[in-house]
Amino acid sequence: MMPEQGKVYIRTFGCQMNVYDSEKIYAFLQDRYIPAATEEEADLILLNTCSIRDKAEQKVYSLLGRLGALKEMNPGILIGVGGCVAQQEGERILKRTTVVDLVFGTHNIHKLPEIIEERLNTGRRVCRVEEDADSVSSSEAPLARSGSDPTSLLTIMKGCDNFCAYCVVPLVRGREVSRAMSEIVDEARYLVDKGVKEITLLGQNVNSYHDPGTGAGFIRLLEIIDSIESLERLRFVTSHPKDFSEALVEAMAGLDTICEHVHLPVQAGSNKVLQGMGRGYTREEYLEKVSVLRELIPDVEITTDIIVGFPGEERDDFEQTLSLIETARYQNAFSFRFSPRPGTAAAQMTQTVSAETRKPWLPELQEAQNHITAEKHAAMVGKVVEVLVEGSGRLQNGKLEGRTRNNFIVHFTGDQALIGKTLDIRIVSSRKIHLNGERVS
Ligand code: 5AD
Ligand code: SF4
Repeated sequence: MMPEQGKVYIRTFGCQMNVYDSEKIYAFLQDRYIPAATEEEADLILLNTCSIRDKAEQKVYSLLGRLGALKEMNPGILIGVGGCVAQQEGERILKRTTVVDLVFGTHNIHKLPEIIEERLNTGRRVCRVEEDADSVSSSEAPLARSGSDPTSLLTIMKGCDNFCAYCVVPLVRGREVSRAMSEIVDEARYLVDKGVKEITLLGQNVNSYHDPGTGAGFIRLLEIIDSIESLERLRFVTSHPKDFSEALVEAMAGLDTICEHVHLPVQAGSNKVLQGMGRGYTREEYLEKVSVLRELIPDVEITTDIIVGFPGEERDDFEQTLSLIETARYQNAFSFRFSPRPGTAAAQMTQTVSAETRKPWLPELQEAQNHITAEKHAAMVGKVVEVLVEGSGRLQNGKLEGRTRNNFIVHFTGDQALIGKTLDIRIVSSRKIHLNGERVS
């Protein structure tokens, strides 16, 4: 039997999709488990893993080694592995280590209470990674974890059909499936009723969202959620540039709750590399979308993802990425060294430039972007901005953290009672990652 009231600790790796899935896991388990503050005090430890880059498997196994030591001291704890590595590795995880009690795939989160029961009742270790017919619908799901966060993530679709040459997502998350609009809207209303002020809609390619019943698209979904009373802010990630339309920019400009921020992963600045990646747009088309955004939404900030060292990328291609970031002037760019992922097209492609030559490209790009970010941060000093107070996170000494509508992170001193409030804050200084401000009375 499950404990009357156990404690669960979830360690989340990777993208916002996993952050959302971890929230769902908490929600599915909340009848039996409350969140633990540390791994040491937990009865159940779950690793929600990611396989998008690097040697994620190795990282998971080395962490499992450490958890094994914890389990020796406390044999009663259960250890589970979920997420993308679990989806890909499945039974192999149970074969490779005896530490793990349960393995569950990205499609089986709703089965977790059952999987835990099975482990406890039969004594057998359980692996459940197959796709269920009902795995996308969350109609039987508790809507969300009970809590008091002013911000919440809300998944609108799963999977991806794009098969970018480097990307493992379509292989582990499956094909693109949109959730029913009515279900999403109900969930949004429920969150707002609970006090959520800001919702971020999640999907690998939100621009291709469509209601499975009526075919109504993403803009319609935005209009309906925007009209929910008391919702202050609406965000969405991730937009695929090939499907990011002028109509969407117009909707963003016209709907009050939609924040002035877009995450628009460009991945590369050279047409040769973009084509090799199968991204479906050119540098010129991408930059045209950026200029439409800047024209129609004056305060808009844009963030991006970039891969450096894709097979066949030469110095000249890389320099086009450098010049693109100067033109696009991103608020922030998440940049990664290309990592060949098993089963993807790019894993079969050959590099034409040596690893040694490619190595300094990533720090070079990051330095160029840091410079742009620093200039943007410096330009904010002296301005008064509207900040939604999210909490204190890891900050100490009475500091609170929040965000502007256009995605600048702001720290200021204030009482915990301000969490969830939207305040006017004057920016007094800028740092690398955040801005410091003070309340305007
Ligand atoms: N190698 C390096 N970066 C990758 N990303 C996805 N797959 C890979 C890979 N194989 C990056 C992309 C994507 C982000 C979430 O991770 O930039 O937008
Ligand atoms: Fe991966 Fe491309 Fe789909 Fe994004 S759009 S999840 S990069 S395949």
